Amino acid sequence: SIEIHVTDDLGETQTLTGEPGGTLMELLRDESSGVEGICGGCAACGTCHIVVDEPWQAGLGEPGMDEQILLEALNERTTGSRLSCQLRLAPEMSGMSLTIVPAEC
Ligand code: FES
Repeated sequence: SIEIHVTDDLGETQTLTGEPGGTLMELLRDESSGVEGICGGCAACGTCHIVVDEPWQAGLGEPGMDEQILLEALNERTTGSRLSCQLRLAPEMSGMSLTIVPAEC
């Protein structure tokens, strides 16, 4: 299984355990608070915005076109920003740490 260390907007960190195949958004939506994923994972809503800690950023590869376009529209975008719905859980991610960005209204 894949362990992901997740810090929420209150600064609380918890470790979630997922299985390969699903997306990171689904894990965060189902197991923690703060990620709604209201578009269901089609890179259209931005409510799955996370910031990946620096050592883990490069290994995730570049965002696809749809992800890039939406990220550019997010006010809170920063280095390491990703849409968690566009990241499929894989064994190489185990140990990764990230911070949830609260949805913009
Ligand atoms: Fe909507 Fe990721 S769930 S953009």
